[in-house]
Amino acid sequence: ATANIGVVGLAVMGSNLARNLASREGNTVAVYNRSPERTDLLTTEHPEAGFVASKSIADFAASLQKPRTAIIMVQAGRGTDAVIEQLTAAFEPGDIIVDGGNALFTDTIRREKAVRETGINFVGAGISGGEEGALLGPSIMPGGSVEAYKTLGPILSSIAAVVDGEPCVTHIGTDGAGHFVKMIHNGIEYADMQLIAEAYDLLRTAVGLTPAEIADVFTEWNTGELESYLIEITAEVLRQVDATTGEPFVDIVLDQAGSKGTGVWTVQTALDLGVPVSGIAEAVFARAVSSKRAQRAAASALPGPSAQWHVEDNDAFIEDVRRALYASKIIAYSQGFDAIVAGAEQYGWDIKKGDVAKIWRGGCIIRAVFLNRITEAYAENPGLVSLVTAPYFTEALAGTQDSWRRVVAGSALSGIPTPAFSSSLAYYDSLRSKRLPAALVQGQRDFFGAHTYKRVDMVGTFHTLWSGDRTEVESEGSSH
Ligand code: 6PG
Repeated sequence: ATANIGVVGLAVMGSNLARNLASREGNTVAVYNRSPERTDLLTTEHPEAGFVASKSIADFAASLQKPRTAIIMVQAGRGTDAVIEQLTAAFEPGDIIVDGGNALFTDTIRREKAVRETGINFVGAGISGGEEGALLGPSIMPGGSVEAYKTLGPILSSIAAVVDGEPCVTHIGTDGAGHFVKMIHNGIEYADMQLIAEAYDLLRTAVGLTPAEIADVFTEWNTGELESYLIEITAEVLRQVDATTGEPFVDIVLDQAGSKGTGVWTVQTALDLGVPVSGIAEAVFARAVSSKRAQRAAASALPGPSAQWHVEDNDAFIEDVRRALYASKIIAYSQGFDAIVAGAEQYGWDIKKGDVAKIWRGGCIIRAVFLNRITEAYAENPGLVSLVTAPYFTEALAGTQDSWRRVVAGSALSGIPTPAFSSSLAYYDSLRSKRLPAALVQGQRDFFGAHTYKRVDMVGTFHTLWSGDRTEVESEGSSH
């Protein structure tokens, strides 16, 4: 046995992660793929990596030093279960199986429990950064036991992205905590992307800027508080010209957004946890609307507004859109962190929000300068009840809200869809409202279903005899 770490599954992500591991001092990497052609391809193309290649799981297990540590990089789903089964049979108590795919965290909880019964450690680790991140340094979100992390931590730290001298990896919490946090990362990723797309649409539709001009606007934005990987690559996508037609690339792409499911999981999970992640949800819904071909075709003749947006001062408008984007982004992250808090409570994980923000500063898709502000906010107050109430963000929202309101109002008047901008603003206004019309909803519920209500001035649970003399009675239900 010569290898200290192994990788199973050698598609692009697996191959790149294996190469990343091999490039770090002290690592010898064992590799295995179900079809041996891929293994051969990788070892031939990268002799410098010194891979220890195996054609069977038994040989792969034999090539690993104890405790054996192997990272599975296969398509999430049933394929993962099959590989886990094979590795569990070939490994021994104390060994570590890591799932580095985008697994649903409840699957990870189930798998961890089953594997633990054999004495083998199972770690679900979220890995973000796409193909390039896997090769050069991703952000890694491992769950699983503290014991497994003792062996795994140094290996993962050796390949993670580094920000301010710190590797973008931390033990998130037990069992499915890592995949849970990766799922929320992806939900935020969806919101971030949708917000940027809405900003682009506004600049294009309301002002008439070309994709190339908008690319320049984004490049400019990327020098300030919005500086992020997603803004940077958006500018590149907008600058791209289609070789076949000479048209902007963005104009020859079918406007139907796909998804692999992690955004949907985030929203489903948040609904179960009772956490309003409206910005993320609107981003998921926006992709769904875009792909409703028949409905969009049928609705395309529906009447629009009587007037188009008349932008008088382009620079002022662009700045309004930038501020609206920043404000909405703050909301999306705030909601995402709320979901992390609720998940941690529900599943018994001790997740340090500041650490999560820290490891998202580099390597991952949502990496951004902005994450520093979140890290600072949680460092100042780890028990922060909502990110929007941190002094820095309160101030940022104060400085952006007029722009935000102008953009949302203007887009409504001129018929430009801005679901994520608008719902984020509605959330912000709901949150800061002294009184919400939820009181009326309680009245309606009590009227038709005797669902009871609480009073602002008295302890207890009450019901009004709506179909009788409309007097109030104290309900027998619990006063909680
Ligand atoms: C990452 C990405 C990655 C994946 C996206 C794609 O963090 O590296 O999130 O995991 O490429 O989740 O998701 P959709 O296909 O659903 O857009």
